[in-house]
Amino acid sequence: MSSSSAEMADRARQSRGKLSKLYSDAADAYEDLWAPELLPLSRAVLSHLALEKAHAVLEAGAGIGSLLPELRERAPNAVVVAADLSFGMLKRASGEFPRAVMDASLLSFKDESFDAAVLAFVLFHLFDPAQGIAEMARVTRPNGLIGTATWGAEHDPPAYEIWFEELTDHGAPPPDPDFAKFELVDTPEKVEALMTEERLHLVRSWVGEYRSTCTPDEFLAHRTRHGQSRLRYEAMPTEVKSRCFERARCRLQRLEPKGFEERAEVVYVVGQKL
Ligand SMILES: C[S@@+](CC[C@H](N)C(=O)[O-])C[C@H]1O[C@@H](n2cnc3c(N)ncnc32)[C@H](O)[C@@H]1O
Repeated sequence: MSSSSAEMADRARQSRGKLSKLYSDAADAYEDLWAPELLPLSRAVLSHLALEKAHAVLEAGAGIGSLLPELRERAPNAVVVAADLSFGMLKRASGEFPRAVMDASLLSFKDESFDAAVLAFVLFHLFDPAQGIAEMARVTRPNGLIGTATWGAEHDPPAYEIWFEELTDHGAPPPDPDFAKFELVDTPEKVEALMTEERLHLVRSWVGEYRSTCTPDEFLAHRTRHGQSRLRYEAMPTEVKSRCFERARCRLQRLEPKGFEERAEVVYVVGQKL
């Protein structure tokens, strides 16, 4: 291995370790606050995976497993398997499903084990998303379907500007570029290119929409309890955190409700192994 590929492998390993800890540590907040927001978005891909005929289905990056009951309902004859990097997330998924802690870029399943596979809001977390698609293609049977959901263009409302300003002003560490590589998979064309590289046939791609709004307190709960923002916040000493929180709260309470309106594209792609 050359020194630069050894460095990349080391960075990938560190990134996986950080992601696994970040998600495990915040799994309770993820379950309360974020999983319910993502579930309706992930659900949209299921009707395109011919699940009714499936005998084995994989959800990679299944998180706390909110999609698993719906997968089972749509695939009544299948064993539905959940895989995720973070033990703390996966242990919250129902024990009725086989669950395995593993990296979606290096799955411990035999070739051609599944009739359908889902990657919902995970691809951008993989150090090399192409490797993730290659693994999904490897473990899928001929004619099997692979569905992905990722974030497209995002419109962050003014509330974010206030929060990020306060984090920076209070000395929070900068965002970690390895947390997510949204820009690699934020259009149908980019995900399609990864699929065609693996000789997957493109079945369908489309762009959906995520819309949400919240109160100042709900906004702060999201920012301080899960995700990359929580990590930056938690890195500050307790007293600084309190000052940052109070200052942000004060400013956010003066914002119009419109200042909390979030909009983002959701990119869906379905490919088939030939
Ligand atoms: C945004 S959450 C999405 C979870 C779930 N799919 C959902 O929609 O609620 C991202 C998930 O990907 C997992 N993850 C991150 N990197 C991963 C990797 N390399 N392999 C498998 N899972 C990974 C995280 O642990 C986390 O559970």
